[in-house]
This record gives sequence, C-alpha cells and structure tokens, in this order.
Amino acid sequence: MCGIIGYTGDDERAVLDVLLDGLSGLEYRGYDSAGLAISNASLSVYKREGELSNLEAVLPEGLDGFAGVGHTRWSTHGPPSDENAHPHTDCQGRVAVVHNGIVENYAPLRAELEARGHTFESETDTEVVPHLIEEHLADGADPERAFRRTVERLEGSYAVAAVFSGRETVYATRQASPLVLGVGDDGHYLASDAPAFIEYTDRVIYLEDGQFATITPSDVTVTDERGQPADVTVRRLEWEPEDAGKSGYDHYMVKEIHEQPTAIRRCLGGRARELDGSVTIDELTDLETPSSVQFVACGTSYHASLYGARLLRERGISAQSFLASEYDADALPIDEETLVVGVTQSGETADTLSALRSANRAGATTLAVTNVVASSAARACDHTTYIRAGPEIGVAATKTFASQQVALAMVASVLAGEFPRSFVEGLRDVPDDVQSILDTSRARSIAEQYEDADAYFFIGRGYNRPVALEGALKMKEITYKHAEGFAAGELKHGPLALVTPQTPVFAVIGADDASEKTLSNVTEVESRGAPVVAVTDSPERVERHADATLEVPDTHPCLTPILANVQLQLVAYHVANRLGRSIDKPRNLAKSVTVE
Ligand code: F6R
Repeated sequence: MCGIIGYTGDDERAVLDVLLDGLSGLEYRGYDSAGLAISNASLSVYKREGELSNLEAVLPEGLDGFAGVGHTRWSTHGPPSDENAHPHTDCQGRVAVVHNGIVENYAPLRAELEARGHTFESETDTEVVPHLIEEHLADGADPERAFRRTVERLEGSYAVAAVFSGRETVYATRQASPLVLGVGDDGHYLASDAPAFIEYTDRVIYLEDGQFATITPSDVTVTDERGQPADVTVRRLEWEPEDAGKSGYDHYMVKEIHEQPTAIRRCLGGRARELDGSVTIDELTDLETPSSVQFVACGTSYHASLYGARLLRERGISAQSFLASEYDADALPIDEETLVVGVTQSGETADTLSALRSANRAGATTLAVTNVVASSAARACDHTTYIRAGPEIGVAATKTFASQQVALAMVASVLAGEFPRSFVEGLRDVPDDVQSILDTSRARSIAEQYEDADAYFFIGRGYNRPVALEGALKMKEITYKHAEGFAAGELKHGPLALVTPQTPVFAVIGADDASEKTLSNVTEVESRGAPVVAVTDSPERVERHADATLEVPDTHPCLTPILANVQLQLVAYHVANRLGRSIDKPRNLAKSVTVE
C-alpha cells in the first residue's frame, strides 16, 4: 500500500536526501503520488500526483530542516491528485501527517470537524488527523499529547507519522499497518519497510500495534498506549544495502528473478541436510504433527500454498488451501490439532492476517510462513518460519514465491516426518538447477515470438497446476494482457472454447505419471491450432506436440514446478519488457495490500 518514511538527525541538510532516498526505496508500495514535509522555522510541504520525479521537479534548492516525513501513495480514499497526496496539514499549517491504512470512522470525524469550522483540502480519510491534532494543540496540549489524543479517536488500520512546525521530533504509531524504526549514529528513521533506510542503518525496532514512537536526533523512545515505556528489541538486519538496489539490472523484477539461486540457498541453509537426507526447521521443533492443515493466503502466496497443501496430502496429512479473503473459520472443522498456515511474503496482507486471527479465535494452532522478520503475521501466529528471500522490491512476487515453495516443501517434510532421500537431494540441487535455467533460458525468444498474442493460457496438472496459475498471474500483472491458468484436465470442460491460433498455451509437463494425461490435453489445444510451448524436463517426449520447449533440469517430480516457474517468470518479464510496461510498478497494484 502506501509507504512512509520519517527522519530526524544532527545534520539539517541531510533531511531531504534521506526522505527522497526513502521514497524511492518505497515506491514499490504505492506510486500514484508522493509528498514530503520538512519542519524548519515553519513547515515546508510539497506533494505531487504521479511518480517521485514529479515531486522532485518542484522541490526548491537548499531545502533543509530539523526533521521530516515523506509518503508514496496507493490511493484508497480519493483519486490520485496533488491535493489527495500526503502529507496533509491542519488549517494553520502547524502539523503535517502521513498515513498508511484506512481511518474507518473518518466520515463522522470529518463532519464533526467541518461543523467546528475546519477547512478540508482533500478527499482523503487521512486529513482528519492533522485537524484533530490542531484542536488538541489549541486546547493547550503539547505536540506529543495532541498526537496521542488524536490517535485515541481513530478506528481502523493505520501507521501514522507527524512532524510539527519548528520541531525536530517525529511522532508515530501503528495499528495493523507496518512501521519500523531505524536506529542510526547520526539520526533516527522510521518507515513502512526497512529497505527505505537500509543504506543509513541496519539496526531496527519493529513497532508493535498500539505502541507510540517519539524520535529525536539523539533518542528513540517507544511507549505503550498508556504512555509507559515499552520493552523493545533492537535487531540487526542481515540485508546488505545492495539488496535494495538494482545492481545493474534494468528492473528489480529481473534482478530478483536472478537472485533466486541465492535466495533458495539461504532458505535451505542449515535446514535440508544432504549428508543424512534429513530436514529440520529449528523454529518448528515444538510443532506437533497436526490432524489437518488449512492454508490461507492471497495471490502468488496462495499459489505457493496450493503446492504446499498437495505435498502434505501426498504424505498423508489432510490439507486444503483457502483464498484468505474467502476463509471462514466458523464454517470449518477446527480444533487445536488443526494447523492453519498463513503464507504471506510481506506478513502484512490484511486478508491473510484477518484469516489467521479468525483461526486463532476458533482455537487452531497457527503458523506464519513469511519473509519479513517480526511482521504482523509472525506476531499473530503461534509459530513462524522465515523464507529468507531477502527484500523484494518488484511488485510482482518472484524470488519470494520460489522461496515459499522451497520453505513449504521443507515444512511438509517436517510435519509428515518423512524425508525421501531423492527429494532432499533434489531440494539441495534446486539453486544450481535454477541457475542453469537462468544461464540457458530461451524465454526471451519465446516472448519475442508471442508478444502479439491475443491471450496466454497456462496449463498444468497436480504439482504443476499451481505454477500454471502463477504463470498466468505473472503474465497478466506485468503485461496487462489477458492470461489464464487452468488445471490441464479442465480445459476441455469450457476454456477450450477460447483457444485459437492467437492464444499460445504454455503447458507445464513433468516426468511423472500424470504427464501422459497432460500430453493428451496438449493435443486437444494443438488440434485447435493454438501454439504450444512446453515447459518440461523431458523435451523428447513432448517435441512432437509442442511448437517450442522451455527446458528445465530433471529433478524429483515434486520439484519440477519450482524450476518450471522460473521459465514462466522470464517469459512474462520479456513480454512485458518488449511491450514497454512499467514492470516493477504495474498499474493499479501495490506490493503489500494492507486493506481487506
Ligand atoms: C503477485 C503478488 C501478489 C501477492 C499477494 C499476497 O505478484 O505479489 O499476488 O502475492 O498480494 O501478498 P503477501 O505474500 O505479501 O501476503
């Protein structure tokens, strides 16, 4: 969703640089407008619709100050415009506020404030916040008290930060929306996500729901709702500053696709052991084998969960995947032996958090499979395991999907207590197998051949069905072209009517028993004239039916989809690149979706 950055430090000239660097690091969270406010003798506020460059173009030379906040927006209340961009200010221009989330009771608050004479300049829910602060200041409250009393009136989800005219302090709080503090040597930071300030400091404090942060150049203070000092842990991030850059690639997405061997190696590290063919996940040693497993997830993570559920079923554990927004814990059989697994890269997806919380209430044991340490999902669940993919900036999930698949393959082995040697060996080889695909892929020429297609279809069966769905999601997300993924056997039950010579069909075909049937499905589309691109580890079996093949290394059949997905990512990337799409920031989308 939206991205927040805040800074206060010893060097007044650094404020603008830190805010702009932070905003550029956060653009993946929202990019329909951007703005910043810097506290100096007064309060300087600049904001513009569109990308960050529009904001940069209106900033005056030599802008400096004591402290500042910045924001990149993904609009919910009010369309993208200069007026609706954050920060928002009060009638006097004494306080500037940035906000991520939704103030659910903004309508009555706004009516109340307007009745008392406040003038609003935007259509946003956020603007009630500075006007409420203004009233408390007028009643004699100091900025901290005015900020706290305002927050007491807000309902909904929010991460809010405020700066006041002529002051060097930044105030912030959160409720169901992420906020992380950065502890630096020459200043202090806050942001929706640590990559926004990783180049300045790697020491972070994850703020909890209901906690308030007061940051000054010399101090970071965290208090609870009653104003009492809170226990906080300063953690050191293992990320490198270059994790947040493009490292010479044209886009974050393609950089992150190429980071998959490293990400997967990190995910496997110390967990899948080749020597004795075992898998252990230290965080999960006290997790009992469940009677059944329910996965909850959205989008790409849902596709990873479909894969995880299938692995568990194959090992004799009843498992189902639910789209988090459709999950209804009250309508499902749940007890403490039921394990509900939230698969969420960001750990902040509102639908997934809501499903996990309802599972907790229903008495299930919960597990978060996430990339972000101390994220809301990690905190909401009884158990957490991290996928260790490193920061992912491109809006389209790539390396986190690969790491989720690998993590879930390990979780399935651990829960079922079953580690077929060839599977563990196959897992250990996945990083090298992915690297060999990256080194040899023909995806670019396939993209060139089919960039003008009317639509793209993706089919797969069994373990390969989730990646067929994911291949289609990636394609539609970044190319804006119609793409659908189907269970291969379902084609003939309806979708086949859509197949024409202008609709290439990407068929994921492994060397397992089910692949014969998928080959029959391929001949069905072939005879309707559709071009077929087989993504396969056995090209000799499919070449008679396929117009082209994208080969993946031979591996354990359960692991083929992890490899096949890399080819599909590359095809989507190259088609989007040829079409000149905004690959890292596709229209209408945001990286972390913190509203239901
Ligand atoms: C697609 C994509 C989304 C996310 C979904 C869930 O490329 O990234 O579909 O997978 O919004 O996000 P997380 O995993 O953060 O819960």
